[in-house]
Amino acid sequence: MQENIIPHQFNVTKEQRSKLKKHNAFLLWFTGLSGSGKSTIANEVEKALHQKGIHTYTLDGDNVRKGLNTNLTFSPEDRTENIRRIAEVANLMIDAGLVVLAAFVSPYKKDREMIKKTVKDVNFVEIFIDTSLEECERRDTKGLYAKARKGLIKDFTGINAPYEAPENPEVLINTEEVTVEDAVIKIVEYIETILNQVQDDKTTN
Ligand code: ADX
Repeated sequence: MQENIIPHQFNVTKEQRSKLKKHNAFLLWFTGLSGSGKSTIANEVEKALHQKGIHTYTLDGDNVRKGLNTNLTFSPEDRTENIRRIAEVANLMIDAGLVVLAAFVSPYKKDREMIKKTVKDVNFVEIFIDTSLEECERRDTKGLYAKARKGLIKDFTGINAPYEAPENPEVLINTEEVTVEDAVIKIVEYIETILNQVQDDKTTN
């Protein structure tokens, strides 16, 4: 089937779209346990970028699983498919010129490697929201850890499913040591130079 699909080359490029928006487009990938603070921090980073006139969009596990990925469970295979689809969606959004923020547990290293391949290394910034299981469980904002401990949720990350922590994330945030405000400053500072790398495309008028 794939052999009969021939991609069409469109004339307006990612570089031209970026130039129009006056900033680079790339993916900020937030990984960490459920309840670690990924969505909270991504939300505040998006607000800070928006205020600077950066064009953004946020993809979040709990929201995407209610729509695009409503048919997926939390089995290892379905989590891989979840991340594969998100990486493809993020790739389109990067091509459209956006800074994409994605907050997903994404517990498997191989799935996070796949994202890098899909969007290309240079477009991928991995942010590890490093909150311990004990702290996530203590906060238990959604009540899911209590349910998982009672055996009411199967394959719950950290309880009865694994989380493979990143070894070399571009940014590491320990939410037990830094405030949300400081986390946002650290992330925005890290991406400042990447944001300004608008490629000079010779075909641009
Ligand atoms: S991922 O592992 O496939 O990347 P994703 O980020 O989409 O997960 O969804 C995680 C969110 O779904 C959690 O924040 C939590 O609210 C909810 N959830 C429900 N069941 C589970 C489970 N078994 N494991 C982890 N999160 C779960």
